[in-house]
Amino acid sequence: MSLDAFLEPAAADLLDGVTDAALKQKLLTVVERLQQAAADYGDGLTFANSLGAEDALLTGLMAEYQPDIQQFVLDTGRLPEETLTLLDRVRQKWPQIRLQVYYPDAAQLQGWVSEQGVNAFYRSEALRKACCGVRKLEPLRRALAGRAAWITGLRREQSVTRDQLQYSERDAANGLQKLSPLFDWSEAEVWAALRALKLPYNRLHDQGYPSIGCAPCTRAVNPGDDPRSGRWWWENPENRECGLHKR
Ligand code: ADX
Ligand code: SF4
Repeated sequence: MSLDAFLEPAAADLLDGVTDAALKQKLLTVVERLQQAAADYGDGLTFANSLGAEDALLTGLMAEYQPDIQQFVLDTGRLPEETLTLLDRVRQKWPQIRLQVYYPDAAQLQGWVSEQGVNAFYRSEALRKACCGVRKLEPLRRALAGRAAWITGLRREQSVTRDQLQYSERDAANGLQKLSPLFDWSEAEVWAALRALKLPYNRLHDQGYPSIGCAPCTRAVNPGDDPRSGRWWWENPENRECGLHKR
């Protein structure tokens, strides 16, 4: 059976509300990518869900068409309340999804905080990266252990550090394949899709936060500003990655 054949019946439901033909085609392509990824990797596949706008879209599509894809949230312990509210909402709305939350290792975190304090990230880039190491990278390693591929909500347009992104590429740093089904989407398309599909999203997006990470390292931006300029705003844009996505 061709991929189109098994895509059609289900896709008619959720995507029926999308009146823009070009947007609908892009959404069908993403659903097809998710179905193909699930067929290729099975339980070797996992979705890194940050609960940001891109991931809210992927979550809705997965819940509808591919709920068997496992997913995880890295709860750093410093996430904004609005992100945790969305996490709860997602779990209640779609009990069929397979979502696991990963936390920092308690002993490692305790050691780090006693040594450097709770807000060390403002003092230097090295301390900021070390905090991301304890709160995000070590849990990420556990979440990806034994996997063959992970899905992310990355888009090329997001930053100078992501403009070479491919849909499927080798993630040498983490030792598996990385799939980014929205790699060729614009921010406007993501929002058009979220609205057309009436999917839940993080309320901070309505308060000037286009990109959301940990609360102390994210701030609102002015309309028209670079969407990622509110992330680690005190650092050089070339360095603004936490290490989840190494080039
Ligand atoms: S970050 O590296 O700067 O923090 P960003 O917020 O743009 O990343 O998110 C890019 C992608 O990384 C998300 O779409 C998601 O796949 C993954 N990601 C980022 N933060 C998390 C998180 N806390 N939990 C799970 N996945 C995450
Ligand atoms: Fe720590 Fe900030 Fe990185 Fe979150 S984004 S892990 S608070 S440095």
